[in-house]
Amino acid sequence: MFAFERARVFERGWLCVARSQELELPGSVVASPGPGPGLLVTRGGDLHLRSFHNVCQHRGACLQPPGARRVRRLVCPYHGWTYELDGTLGAAPSPGCPPAGRGGWGLEPAQVEELEGLVLACAGEPWGPVAEAFAGLAGELASVPLRRLWLGRRVEQVAEANWKLLAENFLESYHFPPVHPALEALTPTARAGTLAPRGAWFGGTMELREPHETVAPGGQLGGRPRLGEARREIRDYLLFPSCLLSVQPDYLLLYRLWPEAAGRTRIVSEIWFPPAAAALAGFDPTPVFSFWDRVNAEDRAICEAQQRGLGSPGFRGGCYTEVEESSHRFASMIARAYLDQRPW
Ligand code: FES
Ligand SMILES: [Fe+2]
Repeated sequence: MFAFERARVFERGWLCVARSQELELPGSVVASPGPGPGLLVTRGGDLHLRSFHNVCQHRGACLQPPGARRVRRLVCPYHGWTYELDGTLGAAPSPGCPPAGRGGWGLEPAQVEELEGLVLACAGEPWGPVAEAFAGLAGELASVPLRRLWLGRRVEQVAEANWKLLAENFLESYHFPPVHPALEALTPTARAGTLAPRGAWFGGTMELREPHETVAPGGQLGGRPRLGEARREIRDYLLFPSCLLSVQPDYLLLYRLWPEAAGRTRIVSEIWFPPAAAALAGFDPTPVFSFWDRVNAEDRAICEAQQRGLGSPGFRGGCYTEVEESSHRFASMIARAYLDQRPW
């Protein structure tokens, strides 16, 4: 089922492999942590953005470790075959090899598109174009300066849970009172809203309880500049299948889920601040970090407990309540992908 899902969901869906800022300069390359060996996105000397499968055509070694860097060429760590940033095989590695010249030995291309400062790539035949899948999302995010944010922190963690449990958990606040009392005190689940479902994305709102200004210890901005317009609201988005955005009054949370096995998922969590924060003397993001370290640990622990529970022959299949509407819609999209139908 894991391999089946990788082929139907992860190789046909649009995956957020980078933010546009990471690929601005010629020579930039980003390698994603998955699926499998992952995808590469490069910005060539001609300023074109391209994507490739992260695999050498000689004997299949993974070309680049996950992460962002700047390079002149892509060099395979195994026997040193070298690829240009446009994916063509560079100078012949040894006489007579590869056979019949270098043509036809380039990297296997993938598709790549940009959406509001996010770089989305698809390894295979996408279920639909980005413009169609994420129609309306650009307008939703218009007030957030997504192309000019400042990275406060990136953390990678591994959860012993299937990636879908983590996505479903993100899509509902029903679990706030027992799992996240500190979050429930700021953004009560009773005041959660769902944005009308459209395309391959989900949207939800959480209203801040008076007099709180943001999601941080004490609920106060503490001098941190706002991200966009003043709103007593959190906006959460899931870009199917595995990119999660949470727009807070003064920062952006970006989570990406990279399944490593049926019961194991790598979570890359980033916290981004508005550009003004970087220039602010005495700017202190640590209260935000510690707040989310705790909430994220609570989510990981409960999803891992759910993963263990789902293995029980005593579990009969479950149900979704009304406030878990988005989680249900997500499960329905997965079901359609299983049936080889477009998920949305
Ligand atoms: S596998 Fe890449 S050079 Fe041999
Ligand atoms: Fe949670």
